[in-house]
Amino acid sequence: MDKRDVIVNAVRELIETLKDIVGAANVLTEPVEQAPFLADWLGKYRGEAAAVVRPGTTQEVANVMAACTAARVPVVPQGGNTSMSGGATPDPSGQAVVLSLQRMRRIRALDPIGQTIAVDAGVILATVQSAAEEAGFFFPLSLGAEGSCTIGGNLAANAGGVAVLRYGVMRELTLGIEAVLPDGRIWNGMKALRKDNTGYALRDLFIGSEGTLGIITGAVLKLFPRPTARATAFAAVADVSSALRLLGVIRAHCGDRLTAFEFMTGETLAMIQRQIDSVRVPLEQMPPAGVLIELSDIDDETALSTRLERALSAAMDEALVADAVIAQDKAQAGEIWRLRESVSQALVREGRAIKHDISVPVSEIAEFVATADQAVAAAMPGIRPMVFGHLGDGNLHYNLMRPLAVTDAEFAAQSAMLTRIVHDETCRRHGSISAEHGIGQLRVDEMTVCKAPLELELMQALKQLLDPHGLMNPGKLLPA
Ligand code: FAD
Ligand code: MLT
Ligand code: ZN
Repeated sequence: MDKRDVIVNAVRELIETLKDIVGAANVLTEPVEQAPFLADWLGKYRGEAAAVVRPGTTQEVANVMAACTAARVPVVPQGGNTSMSGGATPDPSGQAVVLSLQRMRRIRALDPIGQTIAVDAGVILATVQSAAEEAGFFFPLSLGAEGSCTIGGNLAANAGGVAVLRYGVMRELTLGIEAVLPDGRIWNGMKALRKDNTGYALRDLFIGSEGTLGIITGAVLKLFPRPTARATAFAAVADVSSALRLLGVIRAHCGDRLTAFEFMTGETLAMIQRQIDSVRVPLEQMPPAGVLIELSDIDDETALSTRLERALSAAMDEALVADAVIAQDKAQAGEIWRLRESVSQALVREGRAIKHDISVPVSEIAEFVATADQAVAAAMPGIRPMVFGHLGDGNLHYNLMRPLAVTDAEFAAQSAMLTRIVHDETCRRHGSISAEHGIGQLRVDEMTVCKAPLELELMQALKQLLDPHGLMNPGKLLPA
């Protein structure tokens, strides 16, 4: 037998072991069954897998991990497969096993006194939101993919979204986690403690680790009082700079009732309207840029709307807002949100974007956009920046679309050069090349450019400690 036959036999044996652990129906080997697990949401990456395995309990995950490690087969953890950085897609070698958490969908417990919810990692984010609401509480993580992304994926990616301004990122919403190490040992860190000073924060090591250290199988999450009133507006602004000054005015009038402050350039708004029939910008004229503003409170709705109206009127007096609309009912608020939530789908329809997910200090974001716009236009005349995002967090999705006169292939050939410009501008301002989407495979080559050598060395050392055989999600997050 040559080396290839030995590997083929070892994989065949592993597949039989996996069937014993999770049942044959939960080990997918046929191409048609595997297909949804092998491509990413953006359609940018496509891989192959020896098998897709779907354990139903933490113990089954542990047994699967022990078997894969014994066979030295790499494992790609996958939740809802909505990653924007190719994080959950295997490479084309076909050697890896994709471990899907989609059968682990149990709400384990809800504690109304401690205001916490304990869940399996495969629970869909929207299910957690609904469970919280049914119990009279609120779970604030909110993003466009909430109907299909999972709590495990939210944790592994340390997801952000549209309510970070008020409630923080996934890390700040999490009290405890349960994780399975590559060798199959289970770490039960399902603590519901708000204070715990007993050394290194292992929980925080797994959060944001993008499946490179182990499998997150459960979590204890914080719940919040359910807002009973919401006020939603859409305001026309001249540019990022005015939007930031508007943010200051809204905060001064509304304090921490401000829940969302989402920015979109006029080009982005026009693109959404062009690509998605059912949405429209709720103003008479297409503005140079727009901001979706939402307040929430446990107050009465009229009082909240009046507060927002006063804030917007103060902003108009300062000539920061040219026009604005405040939603009069839930349906109108929903329409404004649909405009914002349609942006990812509109971008996919518009063509292949070069995606960037940067953050810089909030005070530098206007200058960042002005400098980056100038630099990419100089490098490729006619380039179309589609810029939107979570302005109050200093996080913009600085996407670049090809000039109309340039073909997709020509544009793709220049993509590394254009990304270099955007990321250099980000790093020069001590920013981050991934604010919320993660490094995945999309940005892995950028890590050595933007991360300090000491940071990379420490990250590699932790990886070696927890995953000595380098089997967890290879090719993602850490450069080879
Ligand atoms: P997957 O895509 O399956 O995996 C993501 C990463 O986590 C991969 O590296 C994977 O290997 C790892 N992983 C998954 N589950 C586990 C586990 N149980 N244990 C260990 N590792 C695991 N993100 C934001 O932050 N903010 C946004 O506003 C936002 N908007 C989006 C809008 C749309 C329309 C889409 C498609 C995506 C958006 N995203 C956003 C990106 C994505 O939804 C989030 O990153 C989400 O948290 C991923 O969850 P998932 O379950 O789909 O994870
Ligand atoms: C968003 O804020 O809508 C997202 O993070 C998704 C995207 O960048 O397309
Ligand atoms: Zn985002």
